Amino acid sequence: MAKVKSKYVCQNCGYETAGYLGKCPECGTWGSFVEEVSGGSPGGIKQEDLLPDNTPPLRLSEIKMDTEIRVSTGISEFDRVLGGGIVQGSLVLIAGDPGIGKSTILLQTSGELCRQGKNVLYISAEESSSQIKLRAERLGVQSDNLYIYPQTNFELIKKHILEMRPDLVIVDSIQAIYTSMIQSSAGSVSQIRECCNELMGVAKTNNISVIVIGHVTKEGNIAGPKVLEHMVDAVIQFEGDKYKTYRILRSIKNRFGNTSEVGIFEMGAKGLSEVINPSELFLKEYNQTQTPGSTIIVTSEGTRPLLVEIQALVGTTPYPAPRRVSNGVDLSRVLQILAVLEKRIGLNLSKQDVYVNVIGGIDVSEPAADLGIALAIITCVRDVVFDSHTAIVGEIGLSGEIRAVNHIDKRINEAQKLGFKKIIIPYSNEVSEDIKGIEVIKVKKIVDAIFKAVSK
Ligand code: TYD
Ligand code: MG
Repeated sequence: MAKVKSKYVCQNCGYETAGYLGKCPECGTWGSFVEEVSGGSPGGIKQEDLLPDNTPPLRLSEIKMDTEIRVSTGISEFDRVLGGGIVQGSLVLIAGDPGIGKSTILLQTSGELCRQGKNVLYISAEESSSQIKLRAERLGVQSDNLYIYPQTNFELIKKHILEMRPDLVIVDSIQAIYTSMIQSSAGSVSQIRECCNELMGVAKTNNISVIVIGHVTKEGNIAGPKVLEHMVDAVIQFEGDKYKTYRILRSIKNRFGNTSEVGIFEMGAKGLSEVINPSELFLKEYNQTQTPGSTIIVTSEGTRPLLVEIQALVGTTPYPAPRRVSNGVDLSRVLQILAVLEKRIGLNLSKQDVYVNVIGGIDVSEPAADLGIALAIITCVRDVVFDSHTAIVGEIGLSGEIRAVNHIDKRINEAQKLGFKKIIIPYSNEVSEDIKGIEVIKVKKIVDAIFKAVSK
């Protein structure tokens, strides 16, 4: 019988110590240590499970490449985020806030795979079979190749995976399953780490693809600690506002593809549907509601250009301190832009409330949105309408200069594709000669942009 050992583990970062500590020396969190007793667990994937014995070091040229087999999820936006489909034998983590739609997309994916004749085992550790069935009916998923297994015990889960040998296993969620090898409760750092390690072993040795769902905690960490991220082959983050319909799938780690891809979905009564042309959707209402204080920017989600509308509202404040509210853009970015506008073009808003909003419920975090935000604010203050056929892109520096942005050609092409006649871009950006059908206006300072963009 293996010796039973006790240790204290920080539930935030996974730091281990022999005795209890009030504050974690690693991450500085207070009161995060929990005692965990291990009954001689293997503590990781056994090397012999993964590699044949005595593999000598080889020259790069001597290594034979396995051909990567990818299985399409049947959802093109999801495939694109995965780098072209699920790689056989890989372990993928889908992370996101509770209620964002993780179970929904994976049940839809299961349905699509079954339609291709694959077998899928859906381990439901959080919901009962009838709840899953209800959801499946709502989503129109029905197949005899889809097996639902409500279970939280890892040993039983593993037994059934090995017996059934499905093409894909979905574990919903990693926080709800536990292994009897460890005595701490489900959801603790050691349980999550151990279960994930074991799943990795099962995936690699049997060449079965596994997708694991992980809830993001209040602090925004995956599974509380970030312990899972480095173990798995790919981490896909599911983002969006629970109360709005858009959802973004973002790849944040991918051993088999690039990490800058995003997929955009819309949540509806029949589950998630792909948004093939997101810019069109975000701009649907734009032309009809042209008012002062609204501009169109070309933001870049990963490598994908996206046109979104930014609105600003500026009004006299009834309060001693004016309010600054931002929705969909970083507030500190808005404050910086306001400071630059005051100092560089003399726009004094110290007695005015300022609201900035991104239409469509998506988050625009990149600095390339600066100029669009600034012009939305300026046009609102001056009560002029921004030229509705002009898109804008550019970062604003502290001295009021417009700074270059990345992926400029893609952004310009997207604007042109959606019928924009002009685009205002930073002076220092080099533009490819292939760009046609849209007038490219280069600006060095905010004032130049104002002159170029406001319709008379
Ligand atoms: P769910 O996939 O259960 O979220 P998660 O697994 O990430 O916790 O989805 C939860 C939300 O999605 C729920 O609030 C209801 C909504 N929803 C729809 O709007 N349409 C649908 O067809 C389904 C299945 C869910
Ligand atoms: Mg769920």
